[in-house]
Amino acid sequence: MTQETTDVAPLKRDGSLYLTGNYAPVHEEVTVFDLGVTGRIPAELSGRLLRNGPNPITPVENPVDYHWFNGTGMVHGVRLRGGKAEWYRNRFVRGSEVLATRGGPPVAGPTRGFDNSNNTNVMKIGKEVYAISEAGCLPLLLSYELETEARSDFGGTMGDAFTAHPRVDPLTGETHAVTYVPQYEKAQYQVVTTEGSVRHLVDIPLPGRPMVHDMGLTTKYAVIMDMPVTFSQAAAMSGDALPYRWDPGHGARVGLLPRHGAAEDIVWCELPGTPYVFHTGNAYDAEDGTVVMDVARYESMFHTNMLSPLDDPARFYRWTINPVTRRVTEQMLDDRAQEFPRHDERLVGRNARYAYTISSDDMPKGFTGLLKHDLRQGTVDSVDYGPGMLTMETVFVPSSEDAAEDDGWLMAYVHDATTERCDVVIRHAQDLATPVATIHLPVRVPFGFHGNWIAD
Ligand SMILES: [Fe+2]
Repeated sequence: MTQETTDVAPLKRDGSLYLTGNYAPVHEEVTVFDLGVTGRIPAELSGRLLRNGPNPITPVENPVDYHWFNGTGMVHGVRLRGGKAEWYRNRFVRGSEVLATRGGPPVAGPTRGFDNSNNTNVMKIGKEVYAISEAGCLPLLLSYELETEARSDFGGTMGDAFTAHPRVDPLTGETHAVTYVPQYEKAQYQVVTTEGSVRHLVDIPLPGRPMVHDMGLTTKYAVIMDMPVTFSQAAAMSGDALPYRWDPGHGARVGLLPRHGAAEDIVWCELPGTPYVFHTGNAYDAEDGTVVMDVARYESMFHTNMLSPLDDPARFYRWTINPVTRRVTEQMLDDRAQEFPRHDERLVGRNARYAYTISSDDMPKGFTGLLKHDLRQGTVDSVDYGPGMLTMETVFVPSSEDAAEDDGWLMAYVHDATTERCDVVIRHAQDLATPVATIHLPVRVPFGFHGNWIAD
């Protein structure tokens, strides 16, 4: 850990922002059937659009000390079938905090790990859907109706923890994860089978205890991110809600771990400068042996501002990682402020042509629009959602299993600041101008983190 420098402004950290406007929690769990729709929901969409985010279940005693990353998890879901929006549900993710506050039936499962109310992502791993978070949390198994059914450590096979950002290999259906817990100077690489057990586990020494939020997956490698936000013992001792700090002396590198390799096989490659990345887009193996990975890249993180994921936005970059020279070259793909890169997940690990992000040029108010990147042509198509309309992460759903890339639907929860309600907006990815359907939820859905389409 480097010495704290004196040439930076005092750390801005008033977390009360995250408790106001559409960051504020909702208090009720509701179930609403037969939602109103403008336009026509594509009949082939049969499944649930789920998302997860922080939603403190009890009043926050010291709002200034609150950090958005820590709020109680709440999942939201809209179920589509036969051209209809059959229901909307929201449910607290029932970790120990929720159980203590609201009671209800006990949640089965192992007690090891950090029993948090996972607030970061919700996705299918093997055959089940889990609410997931990083830094020591056990995945929480959800029912179709979003009730928390069990804590899971994948039948005792899980390593020390799991992550909010695993990648599913579309060729095998296996789930690849890079995980960490703050206590240990290491990360772990875990491969979860389609039956939901870990079959491959590698300890990766990571001195300095960096925050490792996401990963890359190519057909050959898992890409490990070791970047300069590290655990701060001093911050933890002082009771800091998020005891991580900017630590440029830590350096910044990515590691190429052969999918079936051991820690000794990792090829570490230095990054130019000291950037920070929460979220990667796609990654793939280029024909010349390099590895290409797209990222939402920050200049720094938690340097002067603990709110900086919102206050100091990321730009979209491409890293080309050369395992021979052990160098990374970077190219700015788009200089607009943006985050939450997504792509057609049938192409995880391969050279996808398109990426979809959302505009973060008006943060912390909210994400104002959708950006579609043609990575081959180097062009960007964009949509602004209009006054008072603020989008959340966009999910791509192919129009059929064998549809071409980009032939499918872009789906997002969109907050309407005028009505304080939420819409789910569906567009065809090749016709961004006009939504094909807008589903009207009679409730507000707070800004959150991540979600996915779970086909039936
Ligand atoms: Fe994330």
